[in-house]
Amino acid sequence: MDKLIFLDNGATSFPKPEEVYTFMDNFYRNYGVNPGRSGYDLCLEAGELVETTRKMLTDFFNGKDPNRLCFTYNSTDALNLIINGMLKKGDHAITTTLEHNSVLRPLYHLYKYNGVEVDYIPFENKGFVDPDSFTKKFKKNTKLVIINHASNVIGTIQPIKEIGKYCRERGIPFAVDAAQSVGKVPVDIEDLNVDVVAFTGHKSLLGPTGIGGLYVREGIEIRHTRAGGTGVRSAVRTHLFEYPYRLEYGTLNTSGVAGLNAGVKWIEKKGLKNIHEHEMKLTTMLRDGLKDIEGVILYCQDDLTDHISILPFNIDGFEALNTGTILDVDYNIAARTGLHCAPLVHEQLGTDKIHGAVRFGIGPFNTEEHIKTAIEAVKEIAASQKKR
Ligand code: ALA
Repeated sequence: MDKLIFLDNGATSFPKPEEVYTFMDNFYRNYGVNPGRSGYDLCLEAGELVETTRKMLTDFFNGKDPNRLCFTYNSTDALNLIINGMLKKGDHAITTTLEHNSVLRPLYHLYKYNGVEVDYIPFENKGFVDPDSFTKKFKKNTKLVIINHASNVIGTIQPIKEIGKYCRERGIPFAVDAAQSVGKVPVDIEDLNVDVVAFTGHKSLLGPTGIGGLYVREGIEIRHTRAGGTGVRSAVRTHLFEYPYRLEYGTLNTSGVAGLNAGVKWIEKKGLKNIHEHEMKLTTMLRDGLKDIEGVILYCQDDLTDHISILPFNIDGFEALNTGTILDVDYNIAARTGLHCAPLVHEQLGTDKIHGAVRFGIGPFNTEEHIKTAIEAVKEIAASQKKR
């Protein structure tokens, strides 16, 4: 069997840069102890790695205070802290139909069990939300606007800056789920008027699974929704209020932090712009190759301006899952199929009725050869349907 062609980088990046594997291995072998719990040398070294990585990520988001960069286990974890820590009974929130379940489900729980009202802004034909439609939904009790920066299904980058401006004019906190965008395009919270940003480490930041985080801008506060060990001021009965402890609970995933550190360094060495250009060149090649195949349906891919390297499609007559299985078994190509944990996108596209779509996600290690093979594979699968 030919070597695997990994086109599921929207789910997680794979492989990781060699530097990520070696840095994690070195950390865990040589100073993988619990940081901030004691004063011996290894403990201080591990603590220094955590603090350096906090600073590195704060700079990456153009934040000001590294203490307000808190580590979590992934973006779902960060988004739960944000949503549950910023909304309470009687509040109103605005989100979009583009969201992942990491936003939709915590909001739905608050609606169902705590009476929080939620408005969902639909996306327009090309896959973008209209910032002006938010202004019609703002209410006196709107306490949070939360939306994703780039859709994990259709890859469109949302007009964050304009939405952020409207929120700021009204003093409404604005949170952004950057799970898919960070490491692909700049996520500059100053430029984009963002108050809180949530991220994961294992996608385009090229780290391992189990590490993520959030940055909370000065002046924005998130209530505790958990409590536990912090390693400092242990006699205090409540969980600590100061950042980063306020949103960190128990021992951190330090080997994850090490991997994230190496991933971000790799991105900085290559240059975000170069990575994005490479990925979008391949995405354009893929889109151009697929769009002319009879029976292939693409979703929101006509104009790839303001897109990340994610491309959803179906082959007429095939369930997405079947196309994915044939790609895997017959061509050794990994893609994601189904609803991609973002059911409202599929409801709006009408693809919920055919159990979703196939999604190719292109990463920094994909090549033109991979794309050519994928196009040929889809061509053959589509042609086989015509013969049936
Ligand atoms: N959220 C990830 C995806 O879109 C897992 O595939």
